[in-house]
Amino acid sequence: MSVTGPSRALGRVFDRVADAYDAARPGYPDELFRALGEMSGVELTGATVVDVGAGTGISARALRERGARVVALDPGREMLARLVARNLSSSTAEPRGQGVVVAVQGDGNALPIRDGGADLVTYAQSWHWLDPAASVTEARRVLRDGGAIAAWWNTTDAGRADWLAAYEVRLAESCPTYWGPALPEWNVPQIAAALPVEERWLRWTRLVAVDDFLLDLRSHSYMVTMPQEAADELVAMQRAELLRVFPEGVLTVPMRVYLAVGR
Ligand SMILES: C[S@@+](CC[C@H](N)C(=O)[O-])C[C@H]1O[C@@H](n2cnc3c(N)ncnc32)[C@H](O)[C@@H]1O
Repeated sequence: MSVTGPSRALGRVFDRVADAYDAARPGYPDELFRALGEMSGVELTGATVVDVGAGTGISARALRERGARVVALDPGREMLARLVARNLSSSTAEPRGQGVVVAVQGDGNALPIRDGGADLVTYAQSWHWLDPAASVTEARRVLRDGGAIAAWWNTTDAGRADWLAAYEVRLAESCPTYWGPALPEWNVPQIAAALPVEERWLRWTRLVAVDDFLLDLRSHSYMVTMPQEAADELVAMQRAELLRVFPEGVLTVPMRVYLAVGR
């Protein structure tokens, strides 16, 4: 199947929606981190992890909470500023095990990191923004012998809910640059073509208020590149339809995570 996707040049687009991203994007289920440990052979507690495309820190914090020492790397100044702010504010408020997050502004295609020191290189929803060959060459360079490369993506699972399938069809019809599961040509990013990986799909369920779900929608690159008026109209239309089905304003969203690990 031929697979395209968002232009890599759009990678910095997230800086324009850093607040929405930080406030409304979902986290990852516990099961993902159990599977990551199992498939990579890397114990997260005490591991040195380079989290490439760390953004506002959703993945980096989850790794830290499991005891990892995380180098959170991203080219986006605004995205990293949210990560740093949360890191500082949580230093006294949250129990964090032995983990730590250090933010580094940089490019995952040319990692500013020494050879051979990392146990894991992770790409949480981010590998598709990088150069498929250069990113993997760099990840291999910074990994120790026996280290692993892991990439994962949260996707909605519309096959499990008609309302979600209808929502995604409306999105595909109204947003010219939409790229997602409602398109027949959509697929998960093809990291399996760039290195040998073991793959796993993990199901989970997200409970979320309609307004937060729509704020999450605003943080997707295909929405950011839409003219403001058209984006506002689309969000208003989706809000009305969702509230018609869920008048109480809370959604139960079937989700799944695709996890690929190369050793
Ligand atoms: C969809 S966000 C993922 C953020 C975070 N890992 C998470 O789990 O939510 C993708 C991130 O990849 C970053 N990115 C884009 N191009 C990149 C590059 N060349 N090197 C590293 N990160 C990049 C973007 O700035 C953005 O923060």
